[in-house]
Amino acid sequence: MLSHPLVPGAELRALEPWCAEEFFAFVERAREYLAPWIPWATSITDVDGARRWLRYCAEEQARDEGRIYGIWLDGELVGGVVFQSFRARAGVCEVGAWLAPEAAGRGLVTAAVRRMIEWAFVERGMARVEWRTEPANLRSVAVARRLGMVREGLLRQVFRFHDGRRDLEMWSLLASEYEAPTSVA
Ligand SMILES: CC(C)(COP(=O)(O)OP(=O)(O)OC[C@H]1O[C@@H](n2cnc3c(N)ncnc32)[C@H](O)[C@@H]1OP(=O)(O)O)[C@@H](O)C(=O)NCCC(=O)NCCS
Repeated sequence: MLSHPLVPGAELRALEPWCAEEFFAFVERAREYLAPWIPWATSITDVDGARRWLRYCAEEQARDEGRIYGIWLDGELVGGVVFQSFRARAGVCEVGAWLAPEAAGRGLVTAAVRRMIEWAFVERGMARVEWRTEPANLRSVAVARRLGMVREGLLRQVFRFHDGRRDLEMWSLLASEYEAPTSVA
């Protein structure tokens, strides 16, 4: 997948180490919005840090254990999605997402994650896609719900954040629950 259209003007593309400068500019722009929920929004403080993070993701992809994509809107990087983990042998993966505040409210992440779910189930034969979110992150909870995921429960203190450990809700969609789109966007 070099590029996948999401909605008019928006596309999903691999976010690779050569995009480090653009990714860092995105982090700077969106830092305040992302920081309450995403650890790297605080820990990436320069282009080298952005490159290190993207290299780590590229190494995960090379091992088929993760993947990261950017969301470009009208040519500007405005967000991204990630296979936070991808355990092909177990048939289980976890998806995550983020946006710049000005790109929220247009369905970009829902469309991007829908495409990832389709790829995971149809092309990779995965059995289960997970989404973990803090209960207080209402927009994230809404994404899981919009995608038809089921809330399974609360993972207590599972998430190590700068300021301590946090609970996360576990949401999932099973291959047996997945309805393929009638037409591909
Ligand atoms: C979580 C996050 C990615 C959700 O962003 P979002 O814009 O709400 O999600 P989407 O891009 O799917 O857009 C959905 C919104 O667009 C609207 N929308 C417009 N057209 C749409 C379409 N065609 N399809 C779906 N939704 C559409 C929806 O109604 C919804 O808006 P609403 O919540 O005001 O009703 C964003 O809040 C974020 O980046 N938060 C900080 C980082 C974070 O918490 N990440 C998740 C960690 S688990």
